[in-house]
Amino acid sequence: MREEIVKLLKKEGKLSEDAIDEIKQVNLGDFVNLVKEIGKKETEYINASEISKDLDTKYIGKEIFVFNEVSSTNTVARFLSDNGVENGTVVISEKQTNARGRSGKSWESPLGGIWLSIILTPDVDHSKLPLITLATGVAVAKTLEKSGVKNPEIKWPNDIMIGGKKVCGILTEATAKFNTIENVIIGVGIDSNLNIGDFPKEMQDGTTTLSIELQEKVQENELIKLFLKEFEEISELFNHEGYEEILKEWRKRSYSIGKIVEVRAPFNKNYDGYVVGIGKEGALIVEKIDGTLEKVISGECIIKN
Ligand code: BTN
Repeated sequence: MREEIVKLLKKEGKLSEDAIDEIKQVNLGDFVNLVKEIGKKETEYINASEISKDLDTKYIGKEIFVFNEVSSTNTVARFLSDNGVENGTVVISEKQTNARGRSGKSWESPLGGIWLSIILTPDVDHSKLPLITLATGVAVAKTLEKSGVKNPEIKWPNDIMIGGKKVCGILTEATAKFNTIENVIIGVGIDSNLNIGDFPKEMQDGTTTLSIELQEKVQENELIKLFLKEFEEISELFNHEGYEEILKEWRKRSYSIGKIVEVRAPFNKNYDGYVVGIGKEGALIVEKIDGTLEKVISGECIIKN
C-alpha cells in the first residue's frame, strides 16, 4: 500500500522525486491530509457536490473523495480507513491502474466506468461478511432497476448480470479483530459508459455495459447518488439484523438458483451440481450429482447451462 500511496502523491505533484529518502522515514499516516486534499477535486465526469446534492443519507457518502486516477479505490479507501475517516466515506476514481477483482484477478478500469469503494465499520461478527457482499449486490441491482434496466440479476455471490452478461463486480475486503469485523472496504465496479471494444477480446462475449443496455449515456453522478441511497437502505436492514429480508431480495434477483454449476473448490476439489438455493449465512447450496448438499461459502462457481 505504501508504494501505491506514494505513487499517487508523486503523480499529483505533492511529492518530488528527491523527497523519496525523506518519505522512507516518515509514517505513511502523515500523508493522509495530502491524499484527502487531492481527493477534494471534481474530475471531468465525477462531481462530488452533484452527488451530495439532495443525498438524504445518514452516513453513506457524507464524505466523498474523487480522484482522476488511482491504483485501486479499495487501496486508497483502506489507507483512509486506517487513518481515521468516518464510517460511510466513499472513494471514487475515474480510472484505476491496478484494480483488483475477486479470486486474485485484475479488473479492467478504463475511463468511462464507475469505480468506487465504500468504507464501513459495521461492528458485527465476521461470519456476517458474506451477507454484506450479497446486500451490496442487491443495492446495485435495485439501482439499475431504477435507472431503467430490465431484470438485472445477481450471479452468486455478487456479479450483476444483464441478459446473462456481466455489468458489475463487487469486491469486499475486510479486517477483523477477535472475530469482529473492524472495517470493510466494499469495492464496486460498474461498466457504465463503456463500449465492448474497451475490454480485452477474451472478455467481450461475457460483458455488457449500461450505455449499451440503455442505449444512452449514463449520468454517472446521478447513478452514484442512487446507488449510495440504495446502499444505505440495505445496510440499515443489515444493521438491524434484517438478514432474511436481504436474502429475500437477493433470491428474487438470483441468476444462479436453478442452474447447473461447476464449483471450483479449494485444493482442486471441483465438482458439478445443481444450485438449489442460498443459505441464511449467504452460502450457495448446491446439490451434487450423488444427491448430497454442499454449502459453497467462497470460491468460483461457473454456470454450465
Ligand atoms: C469482480 O471480480 O467481479 C470484482 C471486481 C471489483 C472491482 C472494483 S472497482 C472499484 C474497486 N477497486 C478495486 O480495485 N476493485 C473494486
